[in-house]
Formats: sequence, structure tokens, C-alpha cells
Amino acid sequence: MAHKKRVAIFISGRGSNMEQLVKASENNDYPAQIVGIISDKSEAKGLKFAKEKNIEHIVISPKDFPNKQETDRAISEQLKKWKIDIICLAGYMRLLSDDFCDQWQGKIINIHPSLLPKYKGLNTHQRALDAGEIEHGCTVHFVTKEMDDGPIIGQVIVPIMAGDDADILEKRILKAEHKLYPWALEQVASGKIRFY
Ligand code: GRF
Repeated sequence: MAHKKRVAIFISGRGSNMEQLVKASENNDYPAQIVGIISDKSEAKGLKFAKEKNIEHIVISPKDFPNKQETDRAISEQLKKWKIDIICLAGYMRLLSDDFCDQWQGKIINIHPSLLPKYKGLNTHQRALDAGEIEHGCTVHFVTKEMDDGPIIGQVIVPIMAGDDADILEKRILKAEHKLYPWALEQVASGKIRFY
């Protein structure tokens, strides 16, 4: 196949979406390869999987830099070394600076556990339950300067059932995320969906 897009995944924790992206990329026909993993936390559980899979991984912690700009500059340097085409945020719990978003505009995608534009930010499952929603879901979107706000690439709707609590709902939605994210990266890496 033609040149595969070179992808970096950013994580802060468990990394289950990262795992699904890595697994999808192991298929010869998939248009993206995972070149490196960046975590802002040394204790992120997902780093273990990156190590097992022999994928380059690095911790770039804000604690090691004087400010956000310097942290993001270090991230950009690493991405350039790896010659990255696409960045996938997968449970990366840090907001990127405006400069970084400008520099990589159209190349950063994120997965968010709600049907955006509903429920931006944290605790989406509890908030959807509290609001009496009958459906909820997940979204993959391009990242812009505004949090959880860029153009939508794809969504999966998930029903809310009687008796659901936030944990049950989170598990049901995570299963949908694991299908949505590899599909969305494929669309972007193949050029079928672009940022305008
Ligand atoms: C997912 O629910 C994702 O939508 C959100 O953070 C969670 C990350 O989970 N942005 P994991 O680290 O991929 O398991």
C-alpha cells in the first residue's frame, strides 16, 4: 500500500483506546502506523503496553518544564523527530497550548466520551444520567483551540438503560469507542475525511 501515515498517540492513563489503534494498525491494509506514544505521566498504565509492543514511548511531563509553551515545544520537537503526520489524543488529560494547536492544526484528533457538542469536559456519563438522557455516546473530532469543539469525524450513539449508573454506562461506551477510534483514524489517514 502507499505510504502509511505516521501517527503518535498521546495518553495519560489506562490507554485502552491506544491499544485498539495499535491493534488496527497491525493490519497491512490499514493506512496508518503507530510510530510513538507520548505520556504526560510516568505512571500511565498504557506505557506498559507500548513497551510490550516495542513501540517507542516517552514521558514528557509538564513538571519538567517552566511553562506550558516550553512543554509543548518539547512535544513538537519529538513529533518532528518521529516525522509525525497525525496525532491521536487518547485519554490525554492535558490541554495543549494555542500555539501547539495552530502548528498541528488539522492533524490532531481526539476521542471524547459524549455526543458532542453535548457534555464537553469531564464526568460526561454522570452528567448525561443526571440530565435524564435516553441516549449518550462518543465522538472523534479534530482538535482546535477550544476544548472538545473541533469538527466531528464520527460518533456512535449508545442507549442509556434503566438502572444504569456511570460505571455501567462508561463500560458500554468504551466498547463503542474502541470501534469508533480505529475507524476514524482510518478515515483521516486515508484522506477520506479532512479538516477544512
Ligand atoms: C476515554 O473514555 C476517552 O473517551 C476519554 O478518556 C478515556 C480514556 O480511556 N478521552 P483509555 O485511556 O483510552 O482507556
